[in-house]
Amino acid sequence: MDVSAQAATARAPAKINIYLGVGPRRRDGYHDLATVFHALDVADEVTAERDDKGQLSVEVEAGAGVAVDVESVPLDESNLAVRAAHALRRYAGVECGVRLRIVKRIPVAGGLAGGSADAAAALLACDAVWDTGCGRAELATLGARLGSDVPFALHGGTVLGSGRGERLAPVMSPSRLHWVLGVAAGGLSTPTVYAELDSLRAASVVPPPRVPPALLTALRVGDVDAVGAHLSNDLQPAALRLRPELHEVLAAGQDLGAVGGIVSGSGPTVVFLAADERAARNLSRALVDEQMCVEAVPTSGAATGARLLARAR
Ligand code: C5P
Repeated sequence: MDVSAQAATARAPAKINIYLGVGPRRRDGYHDLATVFHALDVADEVTAERDDKGQLSVEVEAGAGVAVDVESVPLDESNLAVRAAHALRRYAGVECGVRLRIVKRIPVAGGLAGGSADAAAALLACDAVWDTGCGRAELATLGARLGSDVPFALHGGTVLGSGRGERLAPVMSPSRLHWVLGVAAGGLSTPTVYAELDSLRAASVVPPPRVPPALLTALRVGDVDAVGAHLSNDLQPAALRLRPELHEVLAAGQDLGAVGGIVSGSGPTVVFLAADERAARNLSRALVDEQMCVEAVPTSGAATGARLLARAR
């Protein structure tokens, strides 16, 4: 039975790292991580439309009402959604092409794994259009070759990540957590931030990273204050060195009543934990009033991983 579609749309979430422990640089240039990934309600959508001439193309637009710098998203073969489509096509031996359209709501180069979300959504949408028969585990293996955060973008929820971030294990975290994204102007390059961390640590012996058990307990019992107290990111000193103005943003969030705040992943987005949904809305308004960020986005988690929204035959 041919269940392939003419077009399909998939959505994939932004991520933050509630905890990001970074080990020493490995011989392959990556770093071993001990992290707690957390998927947010902010998500990108990717539509794949069949192209029977075998072409692969991409266009990008900003989601309605969102200030995303879509001009800085590459439209060539370096675009992660395009790379995902190529990888799946090669793997599944498909000849047909696709036209990809990305609707971006996740800030670009913001430390929120927006590119990985686009790759994850592209894998699902292309899979539906080409009817490759690949299972989610196969897509995750393919995704891990595209970027360390792609398996998590497919998985979603709140999970422990290890290896370079591609090895995932479940975490019990039944409560909804409310966050505010403090979006900064411009992006930061992930490899640059890791390199800055290596240079900051050049004279030290770096122990293997480990997620504190007390954080896992706090997540399990839904103790928001304790989660806030354990927010931690080993990349933060490097991101702050590259973008010193983020010190002020972090301090402002604390003064305005955030339960905790950290730089998200490699930055420059700063993420604040709020006591509840109302507190998140109030904090986001206050951050904008104080002109602390380009945009302050209240959101919550944990969101589900990438999923198919629609297909047209
Ligand atoms: O895997 P991904 O392509 O997203 O990684 C981008 C860059 O971030 C890598 O080339 C590497 O410099 C750095 N990185 C790292 N250790 C990780 C993940 C990423 O050093 N665990």
